[in-house]
Amino acid sequence: MRDFGDLGTAYAVPADVSVPSLPGRLAAPPPGWVAHADVIVVGSGIAGLTAALKLRERVDRVLLVTKTVLSEGSTEWAQGGIAAALAPEDSPEAHLVDTLVAGVGLCDEDAVRALVEEGPARVRELVALGTEFDLDEGGEIKLTREGGHGMDRIAHARGDATGAEISRALIAQLRAVLDDPGIEVIEHALVVDLLKDESGRVCGVTLHVIGEGEINGIGAGHARAVVLASGGLGQIYSSTTNPSVATGDGMAMCLRAGAVMGDLEFVQFHPTVLWLGPGASGQQPLISEAVRGEGAFLVDVDGERFMPALHPQGDLAPRDVVSRAIVARMRQTRADHVYLDCRHLGEAFLLERFPGIVATLRRLGFDPATQLLPVAPAQHYASGGVRTDLRGRTSLEGLYACGEVSCTGVHGANRLASNSLLEGLVFAHRVADDLVERFAAGELLPSQPAAPDGHGYACDSQHRVHIQESMTKGAGAVRSAESLTKTALQLIAHAELPMTEAEPGTLTWETTNLLHLGQALTLAAHLRSETRGGHVRSDAPEPDDDLRGHFHTRREADGRLSVRFSPVPEQAVVTAAQAAAAEHQEH
Ligand code: SIN
Repeated sequence: MRDFGDLGTAYAVPADVSVPSLPGRLAAPPPGWVAHADVIVVGSGIAGLTAALKLRERVDRVLLVTKTVLSEGSTEWAQGGIAAALAPEDSPEAHLVDTLVAGVGLCDEDAVRALVEEGPARVRELVALGTEFDLDEGGEIKLTREGGHGMDRIAHARGDATGAEISRALIAQLRAVLDDPGIEVIEHALVVDLLKDESGRVCGVTLHVIGEGEINGIGAGHARAVVLASGGLGQIYSSTTNPSVATGDGMAMCLRAGAVMGDLEFVQFHPTVLWLGPGASGQQPLISEAVRGEGAFLVDVDGERFMPALHPQGDLAPRDVVSRAIVARMRQTRADHVYLDCRHLGEAFLLERFPGIVATLRRLGFDPATQLLPVAPAQHYASGGVRTDLRGRTSLEGLYACGEVSCTGVHGANRLASNSLLEGLVFAHRVADDLVERFAAGELLPSQPAAPDGHGYACDSQHRVHIQESMTKGAGAVRSAESLTKTALQLIAHAELPMTEAEPGTLTWETTNLLHLGQALTLAAHLRSETRGGHVRSDAPEPDDDLRGHFHTRREADGRLSVRFSPVPEQAVVTAAQAAAAEHQEH
């Protein structure tokens, strides 16, 4: 990984934008026990499981820690599928172009090239490991289309249970080797903070095993390297498609430790999340984009279709375009939702192709075969995260990241549908390969954690709902300088509360993680005074060429966040696609 200094030039934050100061660690007692490994992998989605399985073949001892049970993470909930250029008429180049266009000029082309070129082989390896994708009559992987893809390239499994099937297959592989002394799994383990040695190299984590020992009991894992695959931060908002475990613990721990973070402001809001009323909070039911891929379409509360006039790809425009159009149409019609119409697809097809979604809808009292489904955008994916290079190395020596927690540069300003499972898979392999090479070269030798410096902080869990509300109102699907200022001030007020009431333990630590990430995200969103991809500013509704680049943030030794800006050259395919979309709207 390049140094922070190589990641752009220092950005002078305007005086009216508040810059948060964060503590270096959470308030927690010293570790009461220690586990040792060569590599600690944090997280058990597609990225964590793949990294652990690949590493265990080639290093002596891998420790996999996961927050609840192996199968409970965002991968399990992924409906639509995994994108890869598998069809004979498709190509990695076509997949690259669609990804760059969806990323609205901010994707790292080399990272995308790695994704699309290595993707097909990695998906076939998943099949070899036992993943049962849905097949066509000829026995080939059946492919469908989702928003932003110019081609059918989404592989799916059990209709709409792709993530669950991949997770099942990988966990089966893991269970088959669990008797092997070279791999250990600790479930119900919440990571608390990173451990560093005297040289600043990451050499482990502190963690709390939920439900065991003291309510605030802490252990430590010491290792030559830590691979973070701990997923996203959806619970930072009041409503999200992410499971309750997605409280950004891994991302927040890196932020506090001084890792460089990138693109934090680019949060993806999925257009078609079932709207369950104004008070609905927490994880909400997703209606996969693949449903539109099979022919469903959006109508407003007056029954009028609105996407075909707005974009050449109509209802299958990139996700940010559709979400933005829905928000605008909700405003125009003074409604808090639009509708998804799947009725013409018919009950038999819906049941066969989307069994899980239909079952969820029916349980909640909706019949997609006969009724319009109320939908509205809700938080879905963090396109930014801990900045990595193409090998998954972060700015902190010894720390790697892959999957949603990372910012590899693949997604830019908006992730293309079904690229996330692929990213986790491809980059987990890259991480494993790099670590094995470095171990063979005698790098990253075991070292001892230094004594932690500074005071830890924890925010009482009773503030969690306020933090989520504040983030949703001020830094949610639509933001402005005014709303972000308000949110930043509200978050600072939480951060400055005395800790005396904070009960130590899981809820407190999770709440503090949400707070710290919220503060960094709000800062990046404030600085990005333009609308681009998943970042929508009501006070700056167009993209601004001067802001075509990445905001990188890092916590400095004094606790303050510093910011660098690194411009990205114009990408011709993105400019051409933007011109075509503008021309389409004019006609
Ligand atoms: C969906 O099925 O619409 C979600 C898939 C994704 O987020 O890539």
